[in-house]
This record gives sequence, C-alpha cells and structure tokens, in this order.
Amino acid sequence: MENKGLTKVDLIFEKIDSHEVLAKGFKMSSDEIIQEMLDSGLKGRGGAGFPTGMKWKFTAAEKNPEKYIVCNADEGEPGTFKDREILDRVSNKVHGGMAIAGKAIGAKKGIVYLRGEYSYLLPKLMIELESFHKMINEIGYDFNIEYRMGSGAYICGEESALFESIEGKRGEPRNKPPYPTVSGVFHKPTSINNVETLVTAMMIIQHGAKNFIQYGTKDSRGSKVFSVSGDTPTPGIFELELGMTVQQFVNEFGDGDTKAVQVGGASGFCVPRKKFAETIIGFEGVPTGGSMKLFNSSRSMYNVLHNYLDFFTEESCGQCTPCRVGCQQLLLGVEKVKKGEAASTYLNELMKLADTMKIAAKCGLGQSVGNAFKSIVGNFKEEIIY
Ligand SMILES: Cc1cc2nc3c(=O)[nH]c(=O)nc-3n(C[C@H](O)[C@H](O)[C@H](O)COP(=O)(O)O)c2cc1C
Ligand code: SF4
Repeated sequence: MENKGLTKVDLIFEKIDSHEVLAKGFKMSSDEIIQEMLDSGLKGRGGAGFPTGMKWKFTAAEKNPEKYIVCNADEGEPGTFKDREILDRVSNKVHGGMAIAGKAIGAKKGIVYLRGEYSYLLPKLMIELESFHKMINEIGYDFNIEYRMGSGAYICGEESALFESIEGKRGEPRNKPPYPTVSGVFHKPTSINNVETLVTAMMIIQHGAKNFIQYGTKDSRGSKVFSVSGDTPTPGIFELELGMTVQQFVNEFGDGDTKAVQVGGASGFCVPRKKFAETIIGFEGVPTGGSMKLFNSSRSMYNVLHNYLDFFTEESCGQCTPCRVGCQQLLLGVEKVKKGEAASTYLNELMKLADTMKIAAKCGLGQSVGNAFKSIVGNFKEEIIY
C-alpha cells in the first residue's frame, strides 16, 4: 500500500480571490466541471466517500428543471469539529463550492443545513452570504443560497433525514432508492455534499485536478481536515495529506502513551497500538470524516464503548427494529458482561447481532454501530469482561 507519510498542507484554509475562481468556474460547461471532479478523484468528505464527480453527473443527468445543492453542515459525528472551523474561516469557499456544484448539475438554489449548536455563527455567515450574492450578481450568474437550522439530532446528518427536516417534518431516514440525485429535498433531484467536499471542489477549480492528484494516494486523493482530540498535547484542526499510517499520525499527535485511536468518530473504527504501523488513514484503510480521538493507557475501553453505545441508543430514530432494539441490546449486553451477569462468550452473540444490524438496519446509523463495537470488543476484550 502507498504510504505518503505525514505532511501538513494549507489548501482548504488558503485565502483566495473568490471572484476570480468563480468567474473561471462559471465559464466552464457543466460537463467540463464534472470531468474535472472525476479526474481529481475527489471522494466525499462527509464519511461515506462517494465520488463527487459521479454524484454531480447523476444529478446533472436528471431532466427536472428544479434541482438543489444541499450543503451538509450538521457535523454531528462525535469528535468532529472541522466544518465549524471551515465555515468560520472560509465560508466564501463553501458558498463558492455550492455555486460551482449548482453550475455542474443545473441547480439555481442551494441550502445549507447548519448544526443547531453553530447558530452563533449565523450573523457572520449572513453578512458573508450577502456579499457572496452581490458578487455572483456582478459576475452575472444566477444562484441563491439560504440557511436552515438543525436542532441537535445526530440522525439529521443522514442525507434523507436531513431533507425531511428541511421540509419541516420529523427527521427520519427515507427508504432508498430513490437516491437523492433522483429525489432529494422537496423530492427534487439533489446533490448533497459535506462542507469540506464543496470547499475542496472550489480548490480543484482554482488549481486544477492535475495539481490535486499530486496529494494523497490512488484511492484517497488530496488532503483533508482532521479534528484531533482526546489524549494529545496538541488538540485542534489540522489539514494533512491523505495516505499516512496511524503510527505516523500518533508520532505527531500522541502523548507517548497512545494505546488506541478511534478513527471516524462513534461510527468509525478503533485501531489498537499493534495495528498502528499497518493501517493507512484513507479509503484503502480506515476512512474518516475527520474525527481522530486518541486514547492513552489511563482510559478504559469499556467506558469508551459504553459511551458510544449509549450515544447510539439515544440517537437511533427508532424507525427500524434492528437498530432500535439492536442498540439497546448491545448496550445492555456489555453491561451484563462487565458486571459478570453474563459469560464472556456472550460477547460472541453480541458480535453476531452487530453483523445483523449492518445488513438489516435501514440507514447508515444502524449499519455502522458494529464498526466501533466489533473493533473495540475484538481488540480490547480483556477490558470489557468481568
Ligand atoms: C447517522 C448519520 C449522520 C451523518 N452525519 C453527517 C454530517 O453531520 N455531515 C455530513 O457531511 N455527512 C453526514 N452523514 C453522511 C451523509 O448522509 C451524506 O453521505 C453526506 O452528506 C454526503 O456528502 P459527501 O458526499 O460530500 O461526503 C451522516 C450519515 C449518517 C448515516
Ligand atoms: S437504522 Fe436506526 S436511525 Fe436508521 S432508520 Fe433505522 S432506527 Fe432509524
């Protein structure tokens, strides 16, 4: 596997002349923009890693004259705080990325779905949005963005639940298909992209796909913004080239006693010390929407797991049985094993339940509970049992 080492870069937060980049983007045809995204190999930064060029291509192919770009700024994954920083520092690039995406798919309207807890950013964002609208007006391009507020539910970051929430309904995931590219917000063709994906798209228009592919690996092109927290002397936001190992990451951010790194938040994977050197951070190894939590030997991995299961039990929307009941049973199960009320072999049954949830749950929330569960129980069994 390709190993790029740990390299800090400064592209996402780089100050740019939006007017110049947008004027360049608006001169390109829809096909040209989409081709540039496909050539760049950009994969979505919200976690799932779907190729952005493909998403835009599918939405562009829809004949409906009313289409939408939705910017997912719900940022609910535990340990992620990079979209807040991006919106705070370079919202001109978020708005610009939405307009470029709009040109690519043929949408005149964009909606930013902003995490409820970030409402304090709104006054500043409204001022910046006003100058953005003025600027694209000057360029002679018709595109309008509005903001809608989330209200603290993790599930509302899931794309179809987010659409329901924007439409004023209870935030519950829809059945798929149809996918958002065919029927998204207001049941119109929609491309929904993470904040960072849209900024990266803007950067690709500015510097070109050829420049972008110099960063990262074949499967994980470019750089990404990481939210670093936990047992680290240097918590914060860092933009790093994709393709480093967990060991290289720990060498930079660890406190000398790191025993595990949770990559990708509660829905991600726990990498234990013995696997640091062989695990690449990227789509070919452990993918991440940006959350990187370090744990040192003072931490109980039982407590870490309990915390995640408690979170999922609370945040499950309750719509489907595998997730609603599965989350509760995983939580109750590890509690019983820890108290000695169930044999340690009961963990094998719980592992099977996590596998079933992956197959049978309706949406990504229930499908990904097993990631943390299996990687923590599998690697730290001695800390879970009585
Ligand atoms: C429970 C759940 C929560 C999610 N929360 C977020 C979120 O806060 N921000 C985000 O960008 N994507 C989130 N996603 C992923 C979105 O559904 C979607 O894949 C993403 O916005 C697509 O953007 P991208 O292609 O640019 O990554 C979540 C998914 C699930 C299942
Ligand atoms: S998997 Fe969980 S969050 Fe998703 S629809 Fe089912 S109950 Fe709701």
